[in-house]
Amino acid sequence: MKILLTGNGGREHSLALGICLSESFRKSGSTMYCTLGNPGIDEVAKPVNIKPADIDGLLAFALKEKIDFAVIGPEIPLSMGIADVFTQNGIGVFGPSKAAAEIETSKIFAKDFMIKYGIPTARFKSFDSSNISEAEDFISSLSFPVVIKADGLAAGKGVCIANNLIEADDFIKDITANKIFGDSGNSFIIEEYLSGFEMSVFAITDGDDYVVLPAAQDHKRIGEGDTGKNTGGMGSYAPADALIDDNTRKKICDKIIEPVLEGMKKEGRKYKGCLYCGLMISGDKSKYEPYVIEFNCRFGDPETQAVVPLVKSDFLGLLLASANGTIKDYELKTKNLFAGCVVAASLGYPDKYETGKTITGLNREPGDAIIVHSGTKYSEDRHEVLTSGGRVLSVVGLSPDSIDSAIQTAYRHLGNIDFENIYYRRDIGKKFGRILGNG
Ligand code: AMP
Ligand code: GLY
Repeated sequence: MKILLTGNGGREHSLALGICLSESFRKSGSTMYCTLGNPGIDEVAKPVNIKPADIDGLLAFALKEKIDFAVIGPEIPLSMGIADVFTQNGIGVFGPSKAAAEIETSKIFAKDFMIKYGIPTARFKSFDSSNISEAEDFISSLSFPVVIKADGLAAGKGVCIANNLIEADDFIKDITANKIFGDSGNSFIIEEYLSGFEMSVFAITDGDDYVVLPAAQDHKRIGEGDTGKNTGGMGSYAPADALIDDNTRKKICDKIIEPVLEGMKKEGRKYKGCLYCGLMISGDKSKYEPYVIEFNCRFGDPETQAVVPLVKSDFLGLLLASANGTIKDYELKTKNLFAGCVVAASLGYPDKYETGKTITGLNREPGDAIIVHSGTKYSEDRHEVLTSGGRVLSVVGLSPDSIDSAIQTAYRHLGNIDFENIYYRRDIGKKFGRILGNG
């Protein structure tokens, strides 16, 4: 089987590892290609010099190379309709159609959809240039902090948690008048602030049936103790399922995942691929209530790094089952393992950051850890690996014992890796014990 993976970050490196370790991939002597690649991905997939969002270029490549199956990593090509184009051309694809991807690409669509189908989410109102003057009135009806979100894609930065009216007004001005996110900020929503703890749940679906992968917890803020700016994610661990009881897990399926699949079918936007449910688990431990913070139309980064190594059943088989409509026949098996992922970032991230720094310590035999490449590239002579992004790499520790031990393993391996001004949070996973101990 010939596979084309699009995207070239940490999520895609993890997906590539999951695919190439699958029995179905190894048995059939398959080949995998990956758009642009990076020094980690290149070890398991052949790099293709076409950008992930160049849909025409990718289609031409896929037809020429007789690609059987495309796995779409990032949201941008999905939002541009890559799944529709590939399907129309008879190429199997993992990922939702453009219409279905709108659950991520328009926060207003997602919120209106949730209200229509009774899916629990924060109270909100949407605004654009026609009613922007009413935003302050709505803010006054809520208590601070309030949450303001640009409608469109903003690389994880389109959310402001405003502690007062001045911060709220400044952000609204930035996104609407100063257009810091371009057209993505032409409309926006304001919603009430939810308290609790966050959890990322991936449902892999063919539109009718679904399986739920081990839950993960992301660490979105740049600073320790969940302080400072929002990032794409500075670390994760899985499974996070011990944080909730069976009753809460059932609510996530009954009140969130199933209504989404049913609703999307009714809207003529049957949802296939990975439905990423970004949840806030609110309330008292004895009766937690899950609320949707956001949906994404793809796997999360860095949650994928911690979740994929826990899958014991054939991972490529799972992606194929989503595309082929055979999820009900897929038996998900997971390993009795814990995974902790720590992201190493460049100085300056999530703002302007340094690049071009030599990374050392990558060649050690990782053993009980996986080194996942995100923003890395070869030097021109290909003798060195250099930093090339804000989030540079993730180190994923694995342990049969506990989340804590998995995370300690990640830190131990990260201690061998270095580049100038390397930054990583030292408190990944600390909140697991804290949340478990609460209540
Ligand atoms: P989003 O891009 O919608 O996932 O938001 C980014 C981050 O902002 C989330 O991971 C939360 O930490 C925070 N956030 C978003 N919406 C809310 C909310 N209604 N209440 C509390 N925190 C929120
Ligand atoms: N880790 C957050 C995301 O992938 O959106």
